[in-house]
Amino acid sequence: MQKRVLSGIRATGRLHLGNYLGAVKGMLELQSDPNYETFYMVADLHAITTPYDPKTLASNTREVIIDYLAIGIDPEKSTIFIQSQIPEHTELSYLFSTAVTVARMQHLPTFKEKVKQHPENVSMALLYYPVLMAADILIYKASLVPVGVDQEPHLEVSREIAGKLNERFKLDFPEPQRFATKGEYIPSLVGEGKMSKSVEGSFINLNDDLETIKKRLAAAPTDSGQGESVPSKGGVATLLKFVELFQGAGKCAEYEKAYTGDGIRYGDLKNGLAQAIFEELTPIQEKRKELEANPEYVDKVITEGAQKARQVASQTLQEVKTAMGLGR
Ligand code: TYM
Repeated sequence: MQKRVLSGIRATGRLHLGNYLGAVKGMLELQSDPNYETFYMVADLHAITTPYDPKTLASNTREVIIDYLAIGIDPEKSTIFIQSQIPEHTELSYLFSTAVTVARMQHLPTFKEKVKQHPENVSMALLYYPVLMAADILIYKASLVPVGVDQEPHLEVSREIAGKLNERFKLDFPEPQRFATKGEYIPSLVGEGKMSKSVEGSFINLNDDLETIKKRLAAAPTDSGQGESVPSKGGVATLLKFVELFQGAGKCAEYEKAYTGDGIRYGDLKNGLAQAIFEELTPIQEKRKELEANPEYVDKVITEGAQKARQVASQTLQEVKTAMGLGR
């Protein structure tokens, strides 16, 4: 039997290279593996756990759907849908919340980080984030989740919930594992922390043109280009990571050798890298233009995806309700 896969991206606007390399590349790989049945959603309910603008939420959600399609997520192979259109997720998450403690949620690193970022907006929804994510995954009984390494603490919570419910109510949830890509952790261009939408200057967007990519790379901090050993952190390490991902391990090794030898000329490195990134993004940007000109097609994908997702989701929800004594 095919195993199920689920992943999602919050509806916070256009995707950046961190989302692409850490999540979508894994989604693509699993979509073309006949051993898996793949479900890919846009997490609009997770997007409202931090301050947001209701006027742009719907268009941000649609942008992510279009980005999925432009990158090659194929509605013939994957079920593509919008989280809030499947109300079973929220209902299941409430049932799941009986199996987790408040203290466990408060101690998650992802929660603490958000509290630091938005101390005046620590809502119940934010605390609830991992419980809803567990419902997103387990409602499809997904055993594999292509996400970046930052999501591991949430997957741990999903496994705990699955284990507890299986034990208490004799259910058959899998304990979902993360599917890692080579880009599971994409560092920030500012040389510290990870690439993130909320840190200005840290990211390259999928829709950036060559000039913008060049400008963003130009801002990455560098050093003299020469030394005894290649830095493992900071701007130089970030640039080399990108060289490895976009130009290959061979090119990266060449630069590493140059660092301990004649030295790296960062102007040349950044130029070559910008070209390589842009080359990979060009077909995606072209496909996106076609999709933007065809809104009926995008609508159809969204409607059909919701129908398919809902069939599976409603069945699991009913099973859980019955097992918990809430059945008919
Ligand atoms: P979000 O929108 O924060 O991130 C979407 C995906 O992008 C990955 N990612 C990165 N990977 C590598 N390096 C980076 N710098 C980087 N930045 C972001 C994230 O790991 C993630 O895979 N909570 C999820 C959304 C979600 C979800 C789900 C995912 C809701 N329900 C169920 C899987 C299953 C999130 O982090 O979104």
